[in-house]
Amino acid sequence: MSNAHSSSAHLLPEDASPEGATPEAIGASPTDAPERTALSTSALSTSAPGTKARRPLLSPHHPLADVGTTIFAEMGALATAHGAINLGQGAPDADGPIEMIEAAAAALRSGPNQYAPATGIPELRQAIAHHQRHYYDLEVDPDAGVLVTVGCTEGIAASVLGICAPGDEVIVLEPSYDSYGAVAALAGARLVPVTLRPPKWRLDGDALEAAVTDRTRALLINSPHNPTGRVLDDEERNAIAKVAIDADLVVITDEVYEHLCFDGHRHVPLATMPGMFERTITLSSAGKTFALTGWKVGWASGPPELIKAVRRTQQFLTYTSPGALQRGVVAGLAMGEAPIDAVRAGLDQQRGLLLDVLAGVGFDVTPPEAGYFITADASWTGVADGRDFCLRLPEAVGVGAIPLGAFYVDPDRGGAMVRFAFCKQPDQIAEAGRRLSALTQGPLRSSS
Ligand SMILES: Cc1ncc(COP(=O)(O)O)c(C=O)c1O
Repeated sequence: MSNAHSSSAHLLPEDASPEGATPEAIGASPTDAPERTALSTSALSTSAPGTKARRPLLSPHHPLADVGTTIFAEMGALATAHGAINLGQGAPDADGPIEMIEAAAAALRSGPNQYAPATGIPELRQAIAHHQRHYYDLEVDPDAGVLVTVGCTEGIAASVLGICAPGDEVIVLEPSYDSYGAVAALAGARLVPVTLRPPKWRLDGDALEAAVTDRTRALLINSPHNPTGRVLDDEERNAIAKVAIDADLVVITDEVYEHLCFDGHRHVPLATMPGMFERTITLSSAGKTFALTGWKVGWASGPPELIKAVRRTQQFLTYTSPGALQRGVVAGLAMGEAPIDAVRAGLDQQRGLLLDVLAGVGFDVTPPEAGYFITADASWTGVADGRDFCLRLPEAVGVGAIPLGAFYVDPDRGGAMVRFAFCKQPDQIAEAGRRLSALTQGPLRSSS
């Protein structure tokens, strides 16, 4: 995860890769050993006896030098190797609206199949501007205030790289999504975590204020939050706005789970708060909203000055994203609230099923307010470390999970907390429940 804390040496176990990236997608085979696979730069520095020392192919000073595969790929490979049900992966196992898929397929057939406009096709930028107005009463300029990105992942990277200079500090709420630390490191910036604590995972406004220094450039806020499932409430949002305005900070908000709130919880974008629009880059993605995570169509919106800064980086990262998939997202956004509500309703049902399964097995669980995930303390199984638990779970009972330590600058802070994804079909959740019930016989206790 995120560990650009003070030097690259602290950068974590995983590199920046989206939730749900399959091992194959990032170059690992399903049978790859579960150990981290960081390339050893020294191993590449070969020198035959009697010859002068060779220059290493890969710089040991690269900001991601110590980073191997992401925790999602690592645990995904382990799940595959043991035929486990992968509740680690934050990717739905059923696709979103068929109308969107057909619109994208039709666009592929009819073209154009050449580069889409760098900022995104105009119809999608207009649809995004309409979405912001419809749901949040936010006015964004579809030409200068909206930028289509390759998933939210690129939006995060382009924002951090576009806003931060070497030596800057970026404050995040910890546990935090793994790409934050990696892109901060690439920007030469330092990730400064403000830690949220279970079981409530609430933001302490004083801790946030105390984290600001002369070097702070940006707050990188994720709500609804992965992995805790929290939705920031009024008090927390006010605290963030106060700190941002008082210290003149840019706020980058990752709102990919914006439409996946449950139990009456409501997502309120930070950009809607007084004095915040002009300093906020709002990021989102069609992936979670429409259960089409593989499409990787995301967007940034905000004031033209900030979007311009994101764009100047994004144009050199990918330049543009596939036009046909953008057309598919236009079709989805044109369908109004119904498909979005349907995705949320399905997830809500799956959330209930997994909560019952986990509670039935013996986990002490609190319903997440939003998102894809349930976090739980696994220490009752006899394993004190979440990573150890997740490494042994696939072989022991045939289920995959993710250790929360992967979301901390100091992985030890994750303790025995683990994350289970509920964006899976009911039969898969039920089968996972049958398998997890074996935990009550203490298969992990004996050898821990
Ligand atoms: C908090 C958060 N931000 C960003 C992303 C990546 O989004 P995308 O797949 O649109 O790049 C994810 C994916 O899991 C996420 O959980």
